[in-house]
Amino acid sequence: MDDFERHGIGVVTGRDACARALRSPELTSDPGSGSPSVLLRDGDGHARVRGVLREIIAGLEPLPAPVRTGIEAVVDGLGSSLDLVRDFARPVAGLVTAAVLGVDLDDVFLDHLERTTANLDVFGGADRAGQASAFRLAVQLSRTPAGPGGLTALRAAHSAGRLDEDELALNAVVLAHAAYENSLNFLACAGLELATSGPRSVRELVTTVCPARYVLRFGPDGPLAVSLADGLPFGLGRHACPGSGVALAEGDVALTALARHLEPGCEVRDVVWKTHSVFHGLAKAVVTRSGNR
Ligand code: HEM
Repeated sequence: MDDFERHGIGVVTGRDACARALRSPELTSDPGSGSPSVLLRDGDGHARVRGVLREIIAGLEPLPAPVRTGIEAVVDGLGSSLDLVRDFARPVAGLVTAAVLGVDLDDVFLDHLERTTANLDVFGGADRAGQASAFRLAVQLSRTPAGPGGLTALRAAHSAGRLDEDELALNAVVLAHAAYENSLNFLACAGLELATSGPRSVRELVTTVCPARYVLRFGPDGPLAVSLADGLPFGLGRHACPGSGVALAEGDVALTALARHLEPGCEVRDVVWKTHSVFHGLAKAVVTRSGNR
């Protein structure tokens, strides 16, 4: 029995059925908990918060030159043996997330951000450690001085009456998590694909990897997990990823540079997968470059 079945969650598969479900007015993202998170609500409140986040994300389209050079510098600094998660995906996704918020993010912050993964109320919000991490990050961000960028824009939206206090506090973390977690998982898995199967386009890679395997919806017959694995890596409908352009640009810069780095050929060892039911990713994968350039 899988995790969904154990929690009484139905599963929708197949591209057409999933597209229909994601566009259906009968199914909502709101579990009824009154959450201020953009991910867990629908209707006017969702559209209002999403509008603010969309404006913030547009600030990274096209990807600013310092972000591109920062990503390339991460790859330039890689040695002949590297862990695709620790040395490649994490610093790249961390750098882009810091640029989205307009604040510096250290390893402790990223550790807590990774711990909130299981805290998206996938199975009724039973993960206390994840909740504690999300709360800690919300408090930390509320006290962080911020330059130009997402955190300052969220505060401005709050001052202008576009967000209430709770929406401001939680959606700063939701935005950071959304920008970080799927990119982290995508970049590491795509790096492994490149190392084992050779060059592919970023679009193709994101569809193959599909780092967010399911999204949850709630309908008259109870909760449903809608699969994205059949060609819908960024979802569809009202909640479709507003950061897909940033994710693809980030992936393009990072994976092009990584492919160059691994061009002489490489060996892969110590591949360890994460076990989350929704987020598909690697915990570790060590790549050793063969030959000299
Ligand atoms: C490869 C990387 C990424 C993947 C695969 C991905 C995937 C997704 C998916 C499937 C959703 C829909 C969730 C749902 O329907 O419940 C989503 C939502 C979202 N994503 Fe992404 N994402 C990625 C990167 C990003 C980035 C880089 C950002 C920000 C710059 C971002 C911001 C968001 C936000 C704010 C939402 C919530 C939208 C809403 O609920 O209306 N994502 N993402």
